Amino acid sequence: MSDIETRGILLPRMGFGTFMMTGDTCKSAVESALAVGYRHIDTAARYENEADVGAALAQSALSRSDLHVTTKVWHDQLAPDAIRRSMGESLRKLKLDHVDLFLIHWPTPGMDLPKALETLVALKEEGLTRAIGVANFTLPLLQQVVEEIRAPIACNQIEYHVYLDQTPIRAYLADHGIAVTAYCPIAKGEVAEDAVLKAIAQRHGATPAQVALRWLMDQGEVAVIPKAAGRARQLENFGSLSVVLDEADHAAIATLPKARRYVNPAFAPEWDAPARP
Ligand SMILES: NC(=O)c1ccc[n+]([C@@H]2O[C@H](COP(=O)([O-])OP(=O)(O)OC[C@H]3O[C@@H](n4cnc5c(N)ncnc54)[C@H](OP(=O)(O)O)[C@@H]3O)[C@@H](O)[C@H]2O)c1
Repeated sequence: MSDIETRGILLPRMGFGTFMMTGDTCKSAVESALAVGYRHIDTAARYENEADVGAALAQSALSRSDLHVTTKVWHDQLAPDAIRRSMGESLRKLKLDHVDLFLIHWPTPGMDLPKALETLVALKEEGLTRAIGVANFTLPLLQQVVEEIRAPIACNQIEYHVYLDQTPIRAYLADHGIAVTAYCPIAKGEVAEDAVLKAIAQRHGATPAQVALRWLMDQGEVAVIPKAAGRARQLENFGSLSVVLDEADHAAIATLPKARRYVNPAFAPEWDAPARP
């Protein structure tokens, strides 16, 4: 499995999303994903499934160092004490003494970003996480994090798929050696019905979801975290690692609509905020 080296960690390119799964559904989905070969599990305090993820991890015979676990702190918990509390709760529920990546789940207006990141750095130094990062950060926010605060972020986790252009953010992160983690990488399953992707898939003996995931992983240092409750789709998505796309496939995918967002809550930042001068 190919990994992305970023800020001292190896982030497995192929990850497993767990949003919208809780209880036994989540526990058995994670157990099954680990059996399929996924080694990168994505959760968050907000998903209310860390205990279920933790139960699956606890039953696994895999060694801790072979696993990558990402969790996130919600945007109303960004004061230093609240971040620490959230991290403590996450670790307790996950039954882990550290995670591999700890992210600010969303930016929020009025947050004290330098203080929040200082706290994340302290948690890293204390060994509670191996690396830190952000999610849903726009270009000007990333500039603030990287150039002004100089926080050593390992990734920005953003919505990214064949229907959403993320070139400016991706290019900025690539220039600074920071990975992208693509969420909603199969556009909530909609890629399965796409005529362009179906045609490409047919030529390669693959499926549209595999083509969509491979396309993302071809965009540089990009990890993907598709969610699938059942083993068949987990296997299918994992199989994207062995799909090879050619130039014609990339050209065809470039013609798809590129401004579709599936995740755009009221508290989202201004996505297209211009870069700072
Ligand atoms: N940082 C953030 O703000 C943020 C926001 C959203 C998501 N995320 C993370 O990113 C992960 C992935 O995003 P997502 O779950 O929203 O969307 P997604 O992975 O693009 O799509 C998941 C949906 O696609 C279906 N599916 C899975 N494999 C498929 C296949 N091969 N063919 C057709 N349909 C398929 C799943 O159904 P079944 O499960 O029934 O198979 C599910 O309904 C989340 O689980 C979460 O961990 C992060």
